Amino acid sequence: MRLIVRPDYEAVSAWAANHLARRIGEHEARIAQGQSSRPFVLGLPTGSSPEGMYRKLIELHKAGKLSFRNVVTFNMDEYVGIPESHPQSYHTFMWDTLFSHIDIPKANVHILNGNAKDLEAECAAYEAAILAAGGIDLFVGGVGADGHIAFNEPGSSLSSRTRVKTLTRDTKVMNARFFGGKVDSVPSTALTVGVGTVTDAREVLILVSGLAKARALHHAIEEGVNHLWTLSCLQLHPKAVLVCDDDATMELKVGTVRYFREIEAGNIDNSL
Ligand code: GLP
Repeated sequence: MRLIVRPDYEAVSAWAANHLARRIGEHEARIAQGQSSRPFVLGLPTGSSPEGMYRKLIELHKAGKLSFRNVVTFNMDEYVGIPESHPQSYHTFMWDTLFSHIDIPKANVHILNGNAKDLEAECAAYEAAILAAGGIDLFVGGVGADGHIAFNEPGSSLSSRTRVKTLTRDTKVMNARFFGGKVDSVPSTALTVGVGTVTDAREVLILVSGLAKARALHHAIEEGVNHLWTLSCLQLHPKAVLVCDDDATMELKVGTVRYFREIEAGNIDNSL
């Protein structure tokens, strides 16, 4: 696992955007050289953590440095039971925050349908679509204060697949800020990719910003693999990158931070 420490949210966002751009560019080069004929497959999150990264991806696109024409996306999750057009649906978030501002073909965008008649069939079809696309090349995510990735709340199976999940009260309280501060307005269930769906990706990149995420980062890095902190599943992944800001390191040992900083100082794959 790599841990990249940057001073603040802006620097985390810039690092992540550059990393994505680099991976998409490398894939474009493979296509140009006839080494691949399929698009780059990207898993994407919602929430405050990726907003800065999305802004920077849009800037790179507008500057002519990045195209999404050969990118297929799969979002992590979606609430159950609110209309797609709801201001807080993850459909609305993704189109407003990223997709409307870049050149991705609409048909390349996949977001779970939280209003499907048969939610289990929707989840199974999503897993099948990921497989049909060739699997996910790079899954980007945020993390909840309780260490959850996507909506894989504490106690989720570390081999879980896309399914319906009941949200914890903690998550509803956290997300109430998007629903006028009303906890009861936050949907109680969501569709989410599973921990196993995320860890099947060839590479996983998680954004961790702010003091509120410090405990989650500590559990993910300094404690064992544990279903109560689903982010810790990344310890078993061959290519996982956590990019965090200084505030998020607050619960880590000084020696841990120093160790990862020293390793990264010599890493040629550093995106900034
Ligand atoms: C929600 C989302 C997660 C996200 C988490 C943290 O639970 N389902 O994908 O990582 O919130 O959100 P934020 O980035 O706003 O702190």
